[in-house]
Amino acid sequence: ATALAKRLGTEGARAWIKKQSRPYRELMLYYRCALMEVETKFRVLNEELSADSESNPIETIETRLKSPESILAKAERDGVDLTVESLEENIEDIAGIRIVCSFESDVYVLADALLRQDDVTLLLKKDYIANPKPSGYRSLHLIIATPIFLHDRTKVMRVEVQLRTLAMDVWASLEHKLTYKKDPARRTAEVNAKLSKCADISAQLDKLMGETRDLIGI
Ligand code: GTP
Ligand code: MG
Repeated sequence: ATALAKRLGTEGARAWIKKQSRPYRELMLYYRCALMEVETKFRVLNEELSADSESNPIETIETRLKSPESILAKAERDGVDLTVESLEENIEDIAGIRIVCSFESDVYVLADALLRQDDVTLLLKKDYIANPKPSGYRSLHLIIATPIFLHDRTKVMRVEVQLRTLAMDVWASLEHKLTYKKDPARRTAEVNAKLSKCADISAQLDKLMGETRDLIGI
């Protein structure tokens, strides 16, 4: 735990975050702006890629700001100081955008197209599609830095981008409901084995759908 959290306790630290209302809310506003920018980038790509093929690569786009509770919990877990500057510097997933694609190949087309853009810098890539997590989780994660243009300055913000297929999303949503970050005692070997089998089936579905698409040639 951070010095501040130790001194104040979790409740006190929570109250502290609330009291930081002005700088904290300002930071969250910047993250919301960054999410608007990144969402627009994906909307533009979807529009363009839909024009010359028969289907659109993006099924859904979801954006979220991490809640104060989750920010606090992560700061405590990672020993991050509870100043607004330190939260911005050390927590890279305050702003998150999730792009659910039709096919696995769309994930990589979109990621490459995003990373090619002049105002997007890749800070970290985690390819849990090529290397699934032990849980069976698959998705492509990018931490990017991208500017927002304010009335008197430009500010660079970090955003976590998660790209996945519908099949990956089904698995992640249901697994999350069942176990993720909840009581670890639920994760018996039998539960893990079942989830792992579900993950294999979801990967199999992506593979077969990809082959089907190739056959049809769109
Ligand atoms: P966090 O501290 O949770 O952000 O983990 P991390 O910094 O190690 O990042 P990681 O790349 O492991 O994953 C971040 C996000 O991916 C999580 O917040 C979830 O949205 C998602 N995720 C990662 N692993 C799993 C998993 O096993 N199941 C599900 N459902 N989602 C996962
Ligand atoms: Mg996270």
